[in-house]
Amino acid sequence: MKKSSIPRRSFIRKNATLMAGLPLVSAVPGKMLFSESKKVKLGLIGTGGRGRGLMGTFLSTGGVEFTAICDIDQKALDLGQKVLADRKQPKVKEYLGEFAYKKLIDEANVDAVLIATPWDLHTPMSVYSMKGGVIAGCEVPIAYTMNECWELIETWEQTGTPCMQLENWSFRSDNLAILNMIRQGLFGTMTHAHCSYSHDCIDHWYFERGTGNTRWGAQFLVDHNRNQYPTHQQGPVMSWLDINNGDYYDSITSTASDPRSIYEFFERNFPDHPNGKKKYKQGDIVTTVVRTKKGKTIVINFDMQSPRPYDNRWTVQGTKGLYNEQRDALYLTGVSPNYHAWEDFPPYHEKYKHEWAKTSFGGHGGADGIMANQFVKSVQNNKPLPLHLYDGVLMAAIGPLSEMSISGNSVQIKVPDFTKGKWETRKDYFAPNK
Ligand SMILES: NC(=O)c1ccc[n+]([C@@H]2O[C@H](COP(=O)([O-])OP(=O)(O)OC[C@H]3O[C@@H](n4cnc5c(N)ncnc54)[C@H](O)[C@@H]3O)[C@@H](O)[C@H]2O)c1
Repeated sequence: MKKSSIPRRSFIRKNATLMAGLPLVSAVPGKMLFSESKKVKLGLIGTGGRGRGLMGTFLSTGGVEFTAICDIDQKALDLGQKVLADRKQPKVKEYLGEFAYKKLIDEANVDAVLIATPWDLHTPMSVYSMKGGVIAGCEVPIAYTMNECWELIETWEQTGTPCMQLENWSFRSDNLAILNMIRQGLFGTMTHAHCSYSHDCIDHWYFERGTGNTRWGAQFLVDHNRNQYPTHQQGPVMSWLDINNGDYYDSITSTASDPRSIYEFFERNFPDHPNGKKKYKQGDIVTTVVRTKKGKTIVINFDMQSPRPYDNRWTVQGTKGLYNEQRDALYLTGVSPNYHAWEDFPPYHEKYKHEWAKTSFGGHGGADGIMANQFVKSVQNNKPLPLHLYDGVLMAAIGPLSEMSISGNSVQIKVPDFTKGKWETRKDYFAPNK
């Protein structure tokens, strides 16, 4: 372990027991260990498509340097080094192999790791990182099973090491502006939200483009019928509806349509491919309905294998009006000029632009850059990471919870309380307005 990591790691360990019982802690309290100008040393675990994208975005913050990268595939590591070379960054130490991430966390000169590997590796890698006193930023969904959700919360409570699910859509500028407006009461009392991840990924993510061969995501469609990718939808909704601070998910029900699109995809494109003959559990479209403790409702759609253009379909409704992302419009009773007619959202977006959104860059409409900036600032200043682990874990839990409900014929499932009652008294945590 080299010099810059030692103070942070031992400091985290020393304070872990103190931190476990406190309601709002997610980062290292006390004195600042980094000056604003000191670059955060990052390790990247998983130098695939997303990992390399994150590399570029985090480098663009100007506040980081990568010191180590890890993958099971030498070609992916080479591509990671290329991103660095293209950015005039020095070559970094490579860790190659299935468990090489442990070595990276144990010995590399890193303050934090970014994890961008397949879904089933997210929790083991985040947990190992927390136990090693290395801050973790993990791709979505941070957990795939309920046991993993609890393991993350318990490890964080025991170690006090900051850990965040990198849910980028929470940070998109329009979503943050809506959050500002909700907090200023423009929509009244919030009652309902609708959100979706409708993204046709069958031909490039689950299966290889051009061949139909298996990629790592495909096995999940064979083994499970659930909302496989539940966090992009809920990211902004959680903050809009005060989930984990003042309200909490009480119960959910989930229903899935039959699996059809995967088979037709293979019939159309690769009629003789053995992947077209496999039995898939995963239904085409999963609809989850959440009821919150304070009587709000949320509809969450999962839809990643039907042929269609990309869509999030965010809508949020309050007693004074609503916002609709697809229309880029809103309606506010007594404010919008025409009775029951949509009003353009862009002028409101400008007027209520969140402080964080003043610097936005990178993928997903600039959301990635806003997230990276806030993550880096938090690490540099020993402040809580911008999105709490409670939020990350609850969003991810919709995956396994939806599977339980579907397998029980849409039975209602009680949502466990990862905050252990703290949701009732926690104050706004995400994107505070100061
Ligand atoms: N937030 C977003 O907008 C967004 C976008 C795309 C992907 N993602 C997430 O990013 C993750 C990666 O997706 P991707 O599209 O980059 O996939 P990918 O297949 O391109 O990359 C995954 C990488 O992980 C590597 N890997 C596998 N096992 C490993 C191990 N034991 N140790 C180290 N590396 C290992 C693979 O070799 C590969 O290079 C997924 O969890 C996905 O959900 C998020």
